[in-house]
Parts: sequence; C-alpha cells; structure tokens
Amino acid sequence: MNLDLQRLSPDDALPFARAVSRNFYEDESDADLDVWVKLIGEPELGFRGWLVRDGDGIVANYGIYTMDLSVPGGAKLPMAGVTAVGVSQTHRRRGLLNRMMTAGLDDAVERGEPVATLYASESVIYGRYGFGVVAPAFNYRIDRGVTFRDPVDTRIVEAATPEQAHAEWPAILEAIRAHRPGCATRTPQWWHNVTINDPESWRSGASARRLVHVPGRGYAMYRVKEGEWKDNLPDSTVRLLEVVATDPEAESALWQFVCDIDLTSRVSAYSRPPDCPLPELVTDRFRLRAQPTAPLYARLLDVAVAFEGRSYATTGQICLDVSDATRDQSGTWLLDASPDGASMARVDRDADLALPVDALASVWLGGVKAVQLAAARRLVERRPGAAAELDRLVATDLAPWTPFEF
Ligand SMILES: CC(C)(COP(=O)(O)OP(=O)(O)OC[C@H]1O[C@@H](n2cnc3c(N)ncnc32)[C@H](O)[C@@H]1OP(=O)(O)O)[C@@H](O)C(=O)NCCC(=O)NCCS
Repeated sequence: MNLDLQRLSPDDALPFARAVSRNFYEDESDADLDVWVKLIGEPELGFRGWLVRDGDGIVANYGIYTMDLSVPGGAKLPMAGVTAVGVSQTHRRRGLLNRMMTAGLDDAVERGEPVATLYASESVIYGRYGFGVVAPAFNYRIDRGVTFRDPVDTRIVEAATPEQAHAEWPAILEAIRAHRPGCATRTPQWWHNVTINDPESWRSGASARRLVHVPGRGYAMYRVKEGEWKDNLPDSTVRLLEVVATDPEAESALWQFVCDIDLTSRVSAYSRPPDCPLPELVTDRFRLRAQPTAPLYARLLDVAVAFEGRSYATTGQICLDVSDATRDQSGTWLLDASPDGASMARVDRDADLALPVDALASVWLGGVKAVQLAAARRLVERRPGAAAELDRLVATDLAPWTPFEF
C-alpha cells in the first residue's frame, strides 16, 4: 500500500474539506464544505495542507493556518495554527498523524514560525509532540436572574447587523490583542464566517446567531436554544459564543444583557479566560458554574525567539534544563530578562530547574504556574525556590486567552 504524504493543491480543496468533515463525523454537507473551501482558499489565512491518499481517496488530513499570536508587551509572533487534523477510521494508529505532524512542524520552522498552537479534540493526543497548555479556559453556566453588584445602563448595548459586525468588530479584537497575550488572529473570511455566514447546519438546533455590541467598545454573539416549556415556564439556554470588550463598562453591560434575555433560564458561556471578570461582577457567584474546557496548546519551535519576543515586568535570570523528545530544543537555556529586553541562549552551566518542552510552553506566557508544574512533578527544582522565581519573571498582567477556537 502506497501511503505517500502530499501537500494540498488547490484542486484538492473540496475532497480535503470532505475528509476533514468525515473524520470529525460531521455530515459532509455542501453548505458546510463550501464555507470551508472558501476559508482555506483565503490568501490572508495562508492555509497549508497535507494529505495522505489511499488509492483515489484521502485517508488523512492536516492543516496549518498562517496566523500570529499576541505576546506580553503587545508584539505579535508568527504562529502556525494547526487545524483540520484527522485520519480515516480505517487508517488510524499506523503513524499517519506522526508523519503529518513532523511535516507540518518542519514547514513552520522553515517559515520562521517560533510557535505552533492548536485546540485538541482529546487531551491525550498532542503532549507527545511537545504541545503544552498555554492558555487554560473555562466555560460558565450562569443561572438567569443572577444579580449584578454594580449594574450599568444596558441601553448602551445595541443590535448589530452582520455587515456592521463584519466591518467594526475586527478593530475591537485587535484592541484586545494589544494588551492580552495568547490571542490569535482572525482573518476577513473568518470574520465573515462568524458574522455573516450562518448556515442551519452550524446551529445545532439553536436560533440563528444574534449579534449585539457597544459600538467600538465590545461585542457579543449568541444563539438561543429553545428547551421544553414546563408548567408554563420557559427553559431555554443562551449559548454565548463570544463576548469581548475593551473597557469595564462595556464588559459589564454585555454580560448583564446576555444574562437577562427574556424566555431563557440560563447562559452557557464558552471559553473564558481564568481572569474573566464575570465572578466579580455578580453578587451571587454560587449561581455561576465554571468548568475547565479545551485550552489553547502551544509547541515552542524556537525557544529563544519565543522568550526573547515577549516583554518582562521584572529583572531576573534563570537557567532551565529543557528536554525535547521529538525536536531540537533540548539544552540548558539561560533566560536573562528585564523590562529593557531579554535574551534566551544555550549555556554550559548548572540549571536551576529542569522541565520538558511542553511544560516550558505552559509557563511561557504565564498561563500555567511553574510551582503548579513542580507540585505535579512535571518540573524539577534543582535549586529551591527556582520555580517561584520563574513564575515572577514570566508573570503577565492579563492571562493568555484567545476568545475563539480554530
Ligand atoms: C487523532 C488522530 C488524528 C490520530 O491519528 P493516527 O494516525 O491514528 O495517529 P498515529 O497513528 O500517528 O498515532 C501517534 C501516537 O498517538 C497516539 N494517539 C493518537 N490518537 C490518539 C487518541 N485519540 N487517543 C490516544 N492516543 C492516541 C497513538 O497511539 C500513537 O502512540 P504511539 O506513538 O505511542 O504508538 C485520529 O485518531 C483521528 O482522526 N481522530 C478523530 C478526529 C480527531 O480527533 N482529530 C484531532 C483533532 S484535534
């Protein structure tokens, strides 16, 4: 059987999209595939795809969006956004993902991307390739009627047309990215897919997408999933897809608005950062239920560029013994950082702590604490106190967060 790995050519976009859909057990509908084909053909997204054929059929698929990622200090680092990973049920556990991942990450290195990121369908898959949790996230379930401690006037929240959202909301997300690390790009066609396109197959039985905003300051997108009426009482759920705001008044107004929609009983809010203000906005936080959800994973492909590309609030030096089982980032690295800049270089001296490259990705943007990794024995302190020192050095004002999955 000849199972060669090939690069995706434009002619293969439709069968590739069909393979992605099939391997995620989706319905391969024309409406869905058309949207996908447009997205991966978008020049700004610079989609790179790999596939394996068996006979005439595609049996494995793998993609990378050409994106960037915000880091502390406001810089943006080139990033390979790994996506569309799937292998046919009949061809699994024969090493096809291993081969595609090697090809995709080699390509990212050739292009000078110091980091690859992804959202995992299952948490056990990607650690073996050096991916670690870089941005933990939480879903919230919020009971209707939750009270706000210091309410603002929600009349600043307005309905937005899809065209308005498409034109105005990218600037809001960009404003967030200037301060929030770990936040990925969204391109024009992608915005089109979250503001204008809304085929029925994307709704999972809920309403069409509703768009509201505080113009220029924040936006929210949601659907309402109707539940059974019981004893004349409605039982519907607001599925809050995304809420982003640039200032506290807009943030509060949008939360108040979505938490008080008539004929609904609760809000399910997706993928919020650990420092989401919601629990502090309400008086009765026990009526919120936070649950860990799919985090953003990162794989450092160039440790030096990744650590030198971000800013630091304090001054310090720390020596890290990094082990990388699948690529070439192993070594003893000295991080020498201050508010004026940083260097990260291999040195020949005793390290203060030792950790695998996936754990290094977790501490890179301050999203996961080195002391927590030490307590879990994923990081070994060779000098007592070194983990807490590393935490102080990499600490960020805001938790890393991308408000959407890819
Ligand atoms: C996840 C998926 C792409 C793996 O593809 P694959 O070709 O079977 O993976 P490989 O054969 O290259 O496996 C590589 C290693 O990962 C392990 N692995 C892969 N997928 C795994 C899974 N879902 N659970 C546990 N281990 C898994 C394999 O056992 C293997 O381990 P080994 O190297 O120690 O032997 C495939 O199972 C799939 O398409 N799943 C459904 C769609 C999906 O979840 N895609 C991922 C989206 S983020």
